[in-house]
Amino acid sequence: MTTKLLLDCDPGYDDAIALMLAYAHPELELLAVTTVGGNQSLDKVTANALSIAQALGKTHIPIARGADRPLVEPLRDASFIHGATGLDGVALPAPDFALLDSRHAVNVIIDTVMQEPAGTVTLVPTGPLTNIALAVRLEPRIVERVKEVVLMGGAYAMGNASPVAEFNVFTDPEAAHIVFDAGWKVTMVGLDLTHQARAYEPIRRRFNDLDSAAGRMTREILTNFADTYRRLRRMDGPPVHDACAVALVADPSLVACEPAPVTVELHGGATRGMTVADRRPDRAAGATTFVATQLAVDRFWDLAFDCIGRLP
Ligand code: BDR
Ligand code: CA
Repeated sequence: MTTKLLLDCDPGYDDAIALMLAYAHPELELLAVTTVGGNQSLDKVTANALSIAQALGKTHIPIARGADRPLVEPLRDASFIHGATGLDGVALPAPDFALLDSRHAVNVIIDTVMQEPAGTVTLVPTGPLTNIALAVRLEPRIVERVKEVVLMGGAYAMGNASPVAEFNVFTDPEAAHIVFDAGWKVTMVGLDLTHQARAYEPIRRRFNDLDSAAGRMTREILTNFADTYRRLRRMDGPPVHDACAVALVADPSLVACEPAPVTVELHGGATRGMTVADRRPDRAAGATTFVATQLAVDRFWDLAFDCIGRLP
């Protein structure tokens, strides 16, 4: 049984790993890749998505550009982590923009969900939620029609863009509010979960023997990502956040989740962009939102290694 998914991303080091898992996992069928301004400008993350697809021979899967900024605020990118290109230190072929789908990403999301059988498409956003929110507003029927949304974003304990807010939600809180509030099943793969997927040195070493474009790309990604995380976040072993969302879709047994209503804080001075998860046991009944809590770490890395090993 394969699962159909659409990856909405802003590559980005960990988005690039997420893309590799989505391209390679034998039980995933990646229908389209859409891009959104986030880690870097829309132009740069779109260039990166194209270059990755070209390097891995995956240009037959549509890639479409989406929103270049959040719904309300200007874009404040994460170039301090991912660099001036969004993938600093990673050697990639020059992007061929002629390969881009001519549609806007929002239309690709809508067309994909409406054309596939109802209840079969999983949306996997790994950047700010701007495109997904716009798609909900433009074609509300997608809410009933998707299987579920599994997003990397948010946190119920500690943030990274602020003490309480995670980068993707903090970047476009209004869009995140729309997505969490829509009524479809949303699983928040937040920092609580992704900080369990840390690429420590022994993990990074596992990729040394992969003699392929994907192996080399992974080594360059993890080396540079580890560097910035050590320098700027004072963390040893960068969390490969976005890859966790794809892994959950590929193998739900890897991630424990619990139902909890989630509200995105829009107004608080110090708390804007916080994902307030109500984990009180008596509030779980009827919740359409879930939070990821526990990762089977070793099996997660086995899956990542296996997927990347399948790529050219
Ligand atoms: C998220 O922020 C981005 O920098 C990463 O790509 C990931 O999607 C983690 O907070
Ligand atoms: Ca991302």
